[in-house]
Amino acid sequence: MPPRSTVLRILAPIRLTQPVQSPPARRFSQSIRAMASEYKLKDIKDISSLSVAPGAKREVEVEGIADGKVLLVNAAGKVQALGAKCTHYGAPLAKGILTPSGRLICPWHGACFNAKTGDVEDAPALDALPVFQVAERDGAVYITCEESAVKSSRRKPNFQCSVAAAGADQDRVVVVGGGSGALGVVEGLREKGYTGAVTIISNEGYLPIDQPKLSKALLTDPAKLAWRDKSWFESGSVDWVDGEVTAVDFSEQFVSTKAGGKVAYTKLVLATGGTARTLPLQGFKVLSNIFTLRSVHDAKAIVEAIGDKGKKIVVIGSSFIGMEVANATCKDNSVTVVDMSKTPLERVLGERVGAGIQKSVEAKGIKFYNGAGIDKAEPSAADPSKVGAVCLKDGTRLEADLVILGVGVTPATEFLRDNKILRLEQDGSIATDENFQVAGLKDVYAIGDIATYPYHGPGGDGKPARIEHWNVAQNSGRAAAAHIVNPSAADPHFIPIFWSALGAQMRYCGNTANGWDDVVLHGDPAEAKFMAYYTKGETVVAMASMGSDPAMVQSAELMRLGKMFNKSKLQELVSQAKMCGESQLRQGVDVMDAGLLS
Ligand SMILES: Cc1cc2nc3c(=O)[nH]c(=O)nc-3n(C[C@H](O)[C@H](O)[C@H](O)COP(=O)(O)OP(=O)(O)OC[C@H]3O[C@@H](n4cnc5c(N)ncnc54)[C@H](O)[C@@H]3O)c2cc1C
Ligand code: FES
Repeated sequence: MPPRSTVLRILAPIRLTQPVQSPPARRFSQSIRAMASEYKLKDIKDISSLSVAPGAKREVEVEGIADGKVLLVNAAGKVQALGAKCTHYGAPLAKGILTPSGRLICPWHGACFNAKTGDVEDAPALDALPVFQVAERDGAVYITCEESAVKSSRRKPNFQCSVAAAGADQDRVVVVGGGSGALGVVEGLREKGYTGAVTIISNEGYLPIDQPKLSKALLTDPAKLAWRDKSWFESGSVDWVDGEVTAVDFSEQFVSTKAGGKVAYTKLVLATGGTARTLPLQGFKVLSNIFTLRSVHDAKAIVEAIGDKGKKIVVIGSSFIGMEVANATCKDNSVTVVDMSKTPLERVLGERVGAGIQKSVEAKGIKFYNGAGIDKAEPSAADPSKVGAVCLKDGTRLEADLVILGVGVTPATEFLRDNKILRLEQDGSIATDENFQVAGLKDVYAIGDIATYPYHGPGGDGKPARIEHWNVAQNSGRAAAAHIVNPSAADPHFIPIFWSALGAQMRYCGNTANGWDDVVLHGDPAEAKFMAYYTKGETVVAMASMGSDPAMVQSAELMRLGKMFNKSKLQELVSQAKMCGESQLRQGVDVMDAGLLS
């Protein structure tokens, strides 16, 4: 093993070569720094007439800016204006929640912004919100802003960093993997002021993309799915290495790549995500047109196989990926979903909710074979290299032009299987502490889909859990970054959140890895309008909803604060709401708001 300085000199990571893009043209100035201007808020005479009580918020139109809106908030007694739309997918933040401690939470997927600074506190947002000064004059209220900031409702976080050429003794965080977790780490590091070198090594062949969109829309252009472009990483002095890590030497602190490279680290973050499972059954390994879906490459292959549409598609697995891909393809094809469970989504959402969702998507023509075992895949008569049918154990033969497998993932840690120092868990994951530090290893973190960490959400009691959600990966990346920058800071505690597109948008928070024994259901999953509370004893351990925003993020925040209602209280609320009729469906939402504000 050569000394670390040699490793770095010979195999210094590839730097991005594209120049930093010049800033867009600004409205009020030819100079590089744009000038702000004053704009009047529509129909507001004075700040006291705003009725923005502490913890309250209100969306207001900005005169002179087409479709310009800002969110007025009262953060700790001070009224100020923020961007009105979430920087993730643009949800109206007026419909979210603002807690007394100043957490502004998006109603759709739980992004959290600091109401004072606009900074991101929780995933999935990456850009912060712009904050505008509010002033009252001559019977009107004004904000000082740039037009573009109001329109975009976003502000780039502090990411710029200039790192001098890497020396032998320089701090270097190496991140293995280029997905959600990696984004969380690097953005978190620079936002928190880390000035050392940062390297990302990824084998995907493109910059971090919006992976959840793959199964919802089968998009195939990585550039359209990318969260950040090359110039962004370059502006933060993040070295991007296209390559596959094949081994880690934890004693000498370097990683090896397939191309023969070695990259030394002072801190290592493992963020390699999951590998989609296949079926070890006859035909599945040898026939083509049988796909899994994890990457843009997979989505492209599926779209090519669908071709001019009108295909017979068999989806195996009725959990979220299977159900989403069935929804995404059913309009122009004939889609059949097969699974061993009694209803789709049974493992996570339970039979009642799963059956309701099945009913709602059956209306779109998707057929289901529940409780069905797979026997084999048969070749097509026209082209024996391709799949032609899926045979079930009961003898049913389902014709198929293509098959899509949504049968789960395993942690992508194959490269560590024979490691002399790190012992993988039985499922191939990596055990960590609350800060995502790998148990028993110094300066090494594991985040996202590969991390098994002590879960402290409701019902968790610190028991180990591995959670495959976009937000969990990014929040665990942020947590690891915070710990790298300041190891003595308290560990940030976040509640897992995920979402799905099943004809309608579904939201979920909490976790049932340690089990649940009952569900308190309000509304009707078949109508895509419900709130389901999963309970273990009296504790609500998870919550799912459709058409009931912001109930999920309210529940998540109550869970985070340890203030979530118990099962009896929820049963009482639900029966009251039923007695009052459907118009009172939102009663629980209002009571929860009160719970958050108390
Ligand atoms: C199709 C699809 C839809 C989804 N939809 C949702 C959703 O709606 N909501 C939700 O919450 N979650 C969703 N998820 C789950 C979510 O995307 C993952 O939980 C999340 O991306 C995990 O982040 P990660 O950083 O751990 O791994 P990933 O984001 O998967 O990133 C891992 C990266 O590591 C790279 N890599 C792996 N091995 C190596 C190696 N040896 N060397 C170098 N690089 C390597 C991979 O190529 C990849 O770039 C979805 C997942 C998929 C596949
Ligand atoms: S739109 Fe706000 S979190 Fe997704």
